[in-house]
Amino acid sequence: MNEAVLRAGRVAVVTGAGNGIGRAACRRFAELGMKVCLADVIEDDLAEAAAEVAELAPGGSADVLAQLTDVSRLADIESLHEAVLGRFGEVGLLMNNAATRASGDALGEAAAWQQSISVNMWGVIHGVQTFVPAMIAQGTPCRVVITGSKQGMTNPPGNTPYNVGKAALKAYAECLQHELRNTADCQVTAHLLVPGWTTTGKREHKPGAWLPEQVVEVLEAGLRSGDFYLVCADNEVTPEMDRKRLLWAAGDVIENRPPLSRWHPDYAQAFEEFSP
Ligand SMILES: NC(=O)c1ccc[n+]([C@@H]2O[C@H](COP(=O)([O-])OP(=O)(O)OC[C@H]3O[C@@H](n4cnc5c(N)ncnc54)[C@H](O)[C@@H]3O)[C@@H](O)[C@H]2O)c1
Repeated sequence: MNEAVLRAGRVAVVTGAGNGIGRAACRRFAELGMKVCLADVIEDDLAEAAAEVAELAPGGSADVLAQLTDVSRLADIESLHEAVLGRFGEVGLLMNNAATRASGDALGEAAAWQQSISVNMWGVIHGVQTFVPAMIAQGTPCRVVITGSKQGMTNPPGNTPYNVGKAALKAYAECLQHELRNTADCQVTAHLLVPGWTTTGKREHKPGAWLPEQVVEVLEAGLRSGDFYLVCADNEVTPEMDRKRLLWAAGDVIENRPPLSRWHPDYAQAFEEFSP
């Protein structure tokens, strides 16, 4: 069934497509012969990414749509939806991937919180609520990808609004998939992509990080096998380490430890023994 989406002629819409993982995903979708719609808030990056994707698309720029979009604005997402349907007539894959790194702590500035939550959480809800009803009504197999983060699962200290938004996305994606699988005659499935440490944009590539293309390989393989959780390793964190970290985080509740005990000095040794 997955082959019905990742194949020539179907349409992929990707937010945050101007850079990083979103841009790499667009390149791969074009290589597969899909028509690709790129959405981003940075005009230059969007234009550069669209030109790169058009070089890979079988139909060149006729297979590519680039639309300046701020995912935090519902009106922008609605006009993206109209533009995609007007140009290509359907949506096979929606990848809600845009994110801001606006950062803060729990008592930090409200403006950073509002920016973070409105892009990272509301951006995804806008995308899903605008696109998915029409994808269900199409009556064809379709995929919805939500890009989350390990920060939404294990909650490392450092950027609280980002962690909160990504934790919300995990809950949202899980509930969405539950609702979709309980909707009669629905051929749409949802998937949570969880990148590890990935070099994106103009940042220097460090040996511990993966490249965006490696994340896209996990995405493609996971979609082809119908997995929901598409969790990526990186060159420092193995899948086994991820499993231990997730278990340890759940253990805070079960064992009545302090929250974020992984970063609490009294538990440093215990965590080290649990996940050497
Ligand atoms: N790179 C990592 O290590 C890493 C790890 C875990 C999760 N992620 C997630 O992967 C996704 C892609 O991130 P990336 O690492 O490729 O980052 P990136 O910064 O390279 O790409 C994010 C893109 O989103 C765009 N964007 C920001 N605000 C937007 C808005 N309001 N509307 C539309 N587009 C907007 C940016 O312009 C940028 O092109 C994000 O959801 C991020 O949270 C990344």
